[in-house]
Amino acid sequence: MSGTFDAGDQRRIMGRFATGVTVVTTGDNEARWAMTANAVTSLSLDPPLVLFAIDTRNEMRRQIAEHRCFAINVLGADQMELSNRFAKPGPKDFDGVVLRTGTTGAPLLVECLAYVECELDRTYEGGDHEIVIGRIVAGADSEGDPLLFYGGGYRQIGSEP
Ligand SMILES: Cc1cc2nc3c(=O)[nH]c(=O)nc-3n(C[C@H](O)[C@H](O)[C@H](O)COP(=O)(O)O)c2cc1C
Repeated sequence: MSGTFDAGDQRRIMGRFATGVTVVTTGDNEARWAMTANAVTSLSLDPPLVLFAIDTRNEMRRQIAEHRCFAINVLGADQMELSNRFAKPGPKDFDGVVLRTGTTGAPLLVECLAYVECELDRTYEGGDHEIVIGRIVAGADSEGDPLLFYGGGYRQIGSEP
């Protein structure tokens, strides 16, 4: 059954819910994949779970199903270019991006504000998206301003539209 609420209205209304911006990464040294995501939430502390929503058409979905792990890298205020770069479909350009391998084997962005590394716990169907739940196995954070997404565009703390 198709929805009765206008998709444009939903996008605009929910766009008033400000979020950070992350790059989700998966794979290993031979095959790595990355995707910009802001539909990210901390789900549970015991056990330690996070979730994000993924468009079922995105290749990242297949990549995570194959590798069974992923990392959520939180972008800093000056990393808008990376957000745009990893929001393009298809193989990603990692040129100039410093990576290191996490304990799950997933690539981690060395330069980011914070990250969690996860083993894939489970997925749930969610309409045209899928809810991906990960169990956190490692993570760290640092001081700095985040990149924000609000009203369909990037913002920084205290910035004007
Ligand atoms: C700020 C921003 C946030 C995004 N958040 C999500 C998200 O939470 N989930 C999602 O599936 N796609 C999201 N996207 C879109 C994906 O990054 C985009 O579809 C990407 O090309 C998917 O790559 P893939 O098809 O190679 O996996 C977002 C894009 C931007 C610019």
